[in-house]
Amino acid sequence: MDKKTLIIANWKCNPLTRKEAEHLLKVINGGIKLTKDIEVVICPPYIYLSGFNLKTLNFILGAQDCHWEQKGAFTGEVSPLMLKDLGCQYVIVGHSERRRYFGETDEIINKKIKAALKARLKPIFCLGEETKDTFDSEGKQLNEMNLIVQEQLEKAVAGISSNRINDVIIVYEPVWAISSNNGVSCSSDEAMQARLFIKKILSKLYSRRLAEEIKILYGGSVTAKNSSDYIKKAGMNGLLVGGASLNASEFIRIVKGVYEISPRF
Ligand code: 13P
Repeated sequence: MDKKTLIIANWKCNPLTRKEAEHLLKVINGGIKLTKDIEVVICPPYIYLSGFNLKTLNFILGAQDCHWEQKGAFTGEVSPLMLKDLGCQYVIVGHSERRRYFGETDEIINKKIKAALKARLKPIFCLGEETKDTFDSEGKQLNEMNLIVQEQLEKAVAGISSNRINDVIIVYEPVWAISSNNGVSCSSDEAMQARLFIKKILSKLYSRRLAEEIKILYGGSVTAKNSSDYIKKAGMNGLLVGGASLNASEFIRIVKGVYEISPRF
């Protein structure tokens, strides 16, 4: 089983010029190394994905989305096969911003995960609740996280067989903790609860063995300061980093922090 910790950068719709993108990639590439225990994946906008000498990279290329069909009359869409051809190995699917701004449903996400697997890309599937768990007047937890995460997960993996499911990377990304500049962040304890809950569902849907093998990552306001806790304390198999991945030195610090806590370094 592949036990590599994954550190994934999601640049979203940034930066604005190719020059800036190339500079960022160059600095990050120089600040990290290829190791057998940690895989760094960078997901820039589609337009910056081409033109790399893949042999010189210390990271793996990923995309931020793909279409669910392999080819055809789908104006504006990008096929997973095109991404594969450019050297991508991963693709983010079902990000909450795709759900919120582009109307992606669980059914669409399921089709995209299947299309990515068919093209031999590893889907990085994001799930997570919009708002923090709520409690009733007697303080009883209403389990919003559990209900939403369970539904998103079950629908996303519907029809995916046991022999493909461990190519799917699952990211617990609570929407309320994304780009959190008002100080609301997901604690390592909350992240751990979510990870254990996701594992429980995977065990029911597949098996205990597969639930152990499938990677579960955390995303949402990850910084160099909190990154190690999500891995060490919450037991996550990696991180999906948004804003902090646009700052080369911060992102390199996140990666280096993970090198330091990796037992095999
Ligand atoms: P931030 O790290 O900026 O909160 O973004 C998280 C995210 O959406 C990564 O996919």
